[in-house]
Amino acid sequence: MTRPANLEDRFALSDMAARELANEFGTPLYVVDETHLRHRIRKYIEAFRSAYAVSELSFASKANSTLAILAIAYDEGCVIDVASEGELEAALRAGVPANRCHFHGNNKRVEEIARAVEVGVGQIVVDSFEEIDRLALFRDSLPPLIIRLAPGVDPKTHAKISTGQADTKFGFNISDGSAERAVVRLIELGVAPIGFHCHVGSQLLDPEAQRSGGFLIAEFARQMHERHHLDIRYLNVGGGLGVRYTEEDQPTELGEYNRMIVEAILEGLGPLLRPTLGQEPGRSLVAESGVTLYSVGAVKQVAARTYVSVDGGLSDNPRPALYGSVYPVRHIATKPREVESESKFRIAGKHCESDMLFDDVSLPRDVQADDLIQVLCTGAYNASMASNYNRYPRPKTVLIRSNGEMQIIQRSETWDEMFSRETVPNDLRTTIEVGS
Ligand SMILES: Cc1ncc(COP(=O)(O)O)c(C=O)c1O
Repeated sequence: MTRPANLEDRFALSDMAARELANEFGTPLYVVDETHLRHRIRKYIEAFRSAYAVSELSFASKANSTLAILAIAYDEGCVIDVASEGELEAALRAGVPANRCHFHGNNKRVEEIARAVEVGVGQIVVDSFEEIDRLALFRDSLPPLIIRLAPGVDPKTHAKISTGQADTKFGFNISDGSAERAVVRLIELGVAPIGFHCHVGSQLLDPEAQRSGGFLIAEFARQMHERHHLDIRYLNVGGGLGVRYTEEDQPTELGEYNRMIVEAILEGLGPLLRPTLGQEPGRSLVAESGVTLYSVGAVKQVAARTYVSVDGGLSDNPRPALYGSVYPVRHIATKPREVESESKFRIAGKHCESDMLFDDVSLPRDVQADDLIQVLCTGAYNASMASNYNRYPRPKTVLIRSNGEMQIIQRSETWDEMFSRETVPNDLRTTIEVGS
């Protein structure tokens, strides 16, 4: 198995390795490279630590909560950010101690809070006044609380992944006074927050939004310290750093990014407060370490264009349908053959709806059935957003271990698993049993 020599590049399989993997495991297939992922996490931690010594990196598990990925992130020193009871369960099953998990979510049910308290999560991130009422039920056994703030910055990104503006369902608004009222309420309940959090948006290539978000929550922390004697022990500026989905996507270099963010936070805090600083990136830790392999099933020319249909799509990567996301796409001929000149194709998924994955993709003119298509940068928000639409089993994930071994870390569903949640009432059953 050949791995790209430069771990700073996006992970990509060589043509030979892609063919071997497709032969052995079938397609569609997610592939994650352990060495690449560990390298990326280490670099982020180092960059954060050199900008500010008392820092803590969380991995936003929504990006990829496959158990082995969580185990690697934890092993590299990450706290795990979980945004649901299911993600908490995933972290626990991956061997992450509960006190190394931060519990998020904009609408936590009492049962979820009870579970988080019972297992002993490290922090709960408070998101609404109703949640404060629910937390009050557990006030003698709560972990440290931090308050999620909406700092009122408008990031330059897709509207569906923009969360830091004043008009958002997440957190408490600083500008309309809700955030300060939340602080007062928690102090009254005897569970004063230890700090604050914001996450302003995702796939941000310009760090200005995180910089101003960091400054604003730090300034707010200082004001709460001055007005309410709040002991500020922790500040978290979320995730959001972009990745290289296209050649034009050039995210800020990690060292520079961390220096900018920390500088803005320290400016907002003033000279007296020096809490632990946190960040919780998802995609910028794992996206570039993963690829998806598809097989071409059909090449169909219509009047306007040629469709190349692959054996995956909406169910393994809903992001193109959700936000028109684009990805780097590479073609691999089944067997090595003379390279043809290229032309533009539309890569279509196998699902109903329009299920168009990528438009205007340059592929060799003689692209044909059984060729492979490798999509880079799919380590984040692919496996974790996958579904069984059209009753397709979700793809396997193969982890390329640091020692070169291949291990399946997530297999596809069996038919029994696919239908295990369902029953047909007796009076609706036909006489012919399925499978008989
Ligand atoms: C609260 C919170 N933290 C962290 C993240 C991770 O964002 P990203 O994967 O863009 O770094 C998200 C993404 O939605 C989020 O909502």
